[in-house]
Amino acid sequence: MSNIAEQNFEIRSFETFLPELEERGWSILRPDAIANDPADTLSRLGKLLPQYNGQLTFDVTYKAGFDDAPYSQSMNGLGAHTEAPGYQPPPKYLALYCHRQARCGKGQTLLADGVRFYDHVLDADLRIWADENQIQFVAASKPGEGDHKTFSAKIREEQNGQAVMRFSYNLFRYGNVNPSATDVANADRLKDAPLARIAEQGEAWFANNLTPVLIPDGCMMVWNNHRLIHGRGDYADSARHLTRYWIA
Ligand SMILES: [Fe+2]
Repeated sequence: MSNIAEQNFEIRSFETFLPELEERGWSILRPDAIANDPADTLSRLGKLLPQYNGQLTFDVTYKAGFDDAPYSQSMNGLGAHTEAPGYQPPPKYLALYCHRQARCGKGQTLLADGVRFYDHVLDADLRIWADENQIQFVAASKPGEGDHKTFSAKIREEQNGQAVMRFSYNLFRYGNVNPSATDVANADRLKDAPLARIAEQGEAWFANNLTPVLIPDGCMMVWNNHRLIHGRGDYADSARHLTRYWIA
């Protein structure tokens, strides 16, 4: 069953994909534009990077054990974030190759322009605070894992004249990029801090401005992770399967 129809985007050849990725910040490659190994196609954009698991690929699919956590391998929704905000720099591009999309009609990848939010929407007092303060980005490699990776950076920076945005609703609100159920349960202690207010404003803006994309089977979406914030809607089909790539 194809799920290509009824959504408001084009699937692209590599040549038309590149300018759209540059201008809009995201684009989708159609099946015949993707090499047998999608990594070969992505290496035309940049160097593939090892992910939290130490590998160049990560399976975004349901795995038992994370049902209470907002984690990629659960079927839960994921709040607004940029990928790997604790890395310096974070991966420039993120790609999801879709082996099999959820058949329940849910599980959309959600995208919005985080730089626009920070520069034009965030309350001025919070932007002044964030312009002046470094954030400690703490990430367990998966929920409940002890090996935290941390890096201090501002939410919004410039590198080589281009914006680099770091945002994590989970970190700003729960204290960890991959929070455990306990971190989520204890979130009240953080709720009035500037970071938590930035998280709530960002998440509310994201909810009203996101583009939902159900990546069609056999297609691959790529987006600029220095500019866009992403999230995921919850879903109910454990056979949903995508492969994630990070590109420098
Ligand atoms: Fe993500």
